[in-house]
Amino acid sequence: MKYLEITGCEHLSGQVSISGAKNAALPLIVSSILAKNEVQIDNIPNVADIRTLFALLENLGAKYEFKDNHASINTATLKSTKALYDIVRKMRASILTLGPLLARFKECEVSLPGGCAIGQRPIDLHLLALEKMGAKIDIKQGYVIAKGELKGAQIIFDKITVTGSENVIMAAVLARGKTRLLNVAKEPEVVQLCEVLREAGADIKGIGGAELEIYGTDGELLNFKPFKVIPDRIEAGTYLCAGAITNSQISVCKADATHLSAVLEKFKQMGFGIELAGDIITILPAQEIKPVEIITSEYPSFPTDMQAQFMALALKANGTSIIDERLFENRFMHASELLRMGADIRLNGHIATINGGKPLNAADVMATDLRASSALVLAALAAKGVSRVHRIYHLDRGYECLEFKLKALGAKIERLEE
Ligand code: EPZ
Repeated sequence: MKYLEITGCEHLSGQVSISGAKNAALPLIVSSILAKNEVQIDNIPNVADIRTLFALLENLGAKYEFKDNHASINTATLKSTKALYDIVRKMRASILTLGPLLARFKECEVSLPGGCAIGQRPIDLHLLALEKMGAKIDIKQGYVIAKGELKGAQIIFDKITVTGSENVIMAAVLARGKTRLLNVAKEPEVVQLCEVLREAGADIKGIGGAELEIYGTDGELLNFKPFKVIPDRIEAGTYLCAGAITNSQISVCKADATHLSAVLEKFKQMGFGIELAGDIITILPAQEIKPVEIITSEYPSFPTDMQAQFMALALKANGTSIIDERLFENRFMHASELLRMGADIRLNGHIATINGGKPLNAADVMATDLRASSALVLAALAAKGVSRVHRIYHLDRGYECLEFKLKALGAKIERLEE
């Protein structure tokens, strides 16, 4: 197995390019199931989750080419509507195929993704919404078996769900009649999906808001125009954290600062300077790194996907920071690994208290999920000595060329074999 060896306490400088957003690319690639033409997508990050999704589509019979961050996808050749456990278990987002497959073929079987390292992560809201649209759903042998012609309905999501919203939006664009969705996720990734579908001919009103009205095509497939995936706001935030935790000036380019308002605000509260110029965000060192209070919540609030990175950063603050994780019940797995580096972190349910300012020492640490892994890399950049971050396949799921990008900023980081 591969691991990362990181020599800490190096000053960083320079500029790094941000890749396309994994969490935008996933539903956008899946939306090709709704296409009558070959779909052309640019700026797709070449990360493990994306490759898993292409393997899933190929297994269903789709043809694709993925090269230099560009994909052409042809779903005219789809011959199966069964998303197999062997592929779905590698990536929860495979559940996104449920809505589009059902809408197009009127039946499908998608393996239940199961729990994961950050929490239980049920999909009950996806299923309830599709049932409300007329689907008959059974769970058999670990598979969601869905059948039926979808018709428009009014759906009020009990909780805001990102992939739940995306799944139902994709189902609704091919359904018969009008679907009204309330309490829809407003994440930029959901907004881009709606915009691309609208460009492809779907009738969607209210894009960017919490309420959407979708007039379905009654089974008629869409005609996609070529498009480019939005920048990855979480990757951008993670590199800005790398600058912050080493108190260095670095810039991220090809980023969209408007998607990062809550995160940039927290950097400022901690004493860092932020400069914006076009698609470039620069973080400037703090005179004194101040503690911070963070509550994770849905967009536009502070994202749970940046919580672990800010916990690592809070270790460098002069005082006590509080993080309240409101979205996932088990998303503090990085805390116990950070303790191995000398961190002082107390957990009480979904609240973490971080007493910053203690020296961090290098250690062997184990990655547990994608964002937890990036927090460990960040802590290693600030720790004295040589750390090793193990199980980095988690990182490879969502960060494209991580060690090359960090090296370009001057970090001492190597990928080695155990
Ligand atoms: C998406 O996951 C992202 N994944 C996650 O990113 C991200 O952490 C999360 O949204 C929150 O922003 C993708 O976009 C592929 P949710 P998702 O449904 O859609 C509860 C990363 O690191 N819920 O918005 O699965 C759920 O348990 C990943 O890139 C239900 O109760 O998250 C959670 O508490 C990890 N029933 C809350 O809603 C449901 O049917 C929000 O989850 C669905 C969700």
